[in-house]
Amino acid sequence: MRIAFFSAKPYDRMFFNQCNEGYGFQIDYWETHLGPHVVSAIETGTDAVCVFVNDRLTADVIGVLADKGVKVIALRCAGFNNVDLDAARKRNIQVCRVPAYSPEAVAEHAVAMLLTLNRKTHKAYNRVREQNFALNGLLGFNLHGKTVGVAGTGKIGKAFCRIMLGFGCRVLAFDPFEDEELKTLGVQYLPMSDLLAAADIISLHCPLTPENHYMISNEALEKMKQGITLINTSRGGLLNTKDVIAALKKGKIAYLGIDVYEQEEKLFFKDLSGSIIMDDDIQRLMSFPNVLVTGHQAFFTEEALTEIASVTLHSISLLDSGKQPQNGEMLV
Ligand code: NAI
Repeated sequence: MRIAFFSAKPYDRMFFNQCNEGYGFQIDYWETHLGPHVVSAIETGTDAVCVFVNDRLTADVIGVLADKGVKVIALRCAGFNNVDLDAARKRNIQVCRVPAYSPEAVAEHAVAMLLTLNRKTHKAYNRVREQNFALNGLLGFNLHGKTVGVAGTGKIGKAFCRIMLGFGCRVLAFDPFEDEELKTLGVQYLPMSDLLAAADIISLHCPLTPENHYMISNEALEKMKQGITLINTSRGGLLNTKDVIAALKKGKIAYLGIDVYEQEEKLFFKDLSGSIIMDDDIQRLMSFPNVLVTGHQAFFTEEALTEIASVTLHSISLLDSGKQPQNGEMLV
């Protein structure tokens, strides 16, 4: 198998090269995103492409891949909103992903964002470095006793619910498929509009689909309590960024933690410290003292990267031998 590996970072090479010792695939690492600008440069003889969250696999890109004889698109992530699955189906390209490399990694990062915001440790860290030990402006609030609303109780949302229950929070959830185990643990399922109205803290753990694009826009924000804390580690397109900025200005959103951003493919996973950023919305978001932005790092733990490499190469190996992985990896 020859694999063209896109959006490759040094840590990807490290974990995949280590895992590939057991397979011996030829992996061609490309630093660039996969998209229309580069797809025609893929060499004939490539059997699979390995892609990440911000690679763009549109119908046109998939058409070129198919013409070049690519048979497998292996996503080394869980979300797949960036791949036109219908186009892949039509061109007989199999698409696999890593459905659950470490739900705890993402859930724990969502909690880390929440705990940073509610105790203002991002501000305290800077202050103490300047020998300023004053507490003015650092007043926080307890999580214990608060009502937490969780949208999406799949693998990550479920791990997040468990942690919040451990903090002594009341946990409300919305998901078209209710989880019986969570219910026995005390999680209460409600329609989304009731969840929005009742929660002090809302955390999003559902995939981005055409139906829930901008699920948090003015209409949803109006239903929320004044002074809500909102955490999004899922996908940027779930938030209407302009509406969220307006809600921050009005104090409707008291704290915002985002690990994902709707225009993130131009920014995230790159060192832009010497560049002028042209995206005014992200600059505005980063200027708020009560907003915490991380660059899509919720998944980024040793455990998760080991599992991503292992599941991805195992799936490619099975597909190469005419078999299919059976644990939710296959999308097409
Ligand atoms: P999952 O497939 O196990 O669970 C998703 C859940 O969301 C399902 O139970 C589904 O029924 C529910 N759902 C679908 N549409 C919904 C809606 N409109 N409202 C409420 N619930 C809805 O997925 P998993 O592994 O829990 O991942 C969730 C998302 O987290 C991924 O789709 C991905 O976008 C994001 N993610 C982010 C990472 C990061 O590093 N920031 C890493 C991994 C995933």
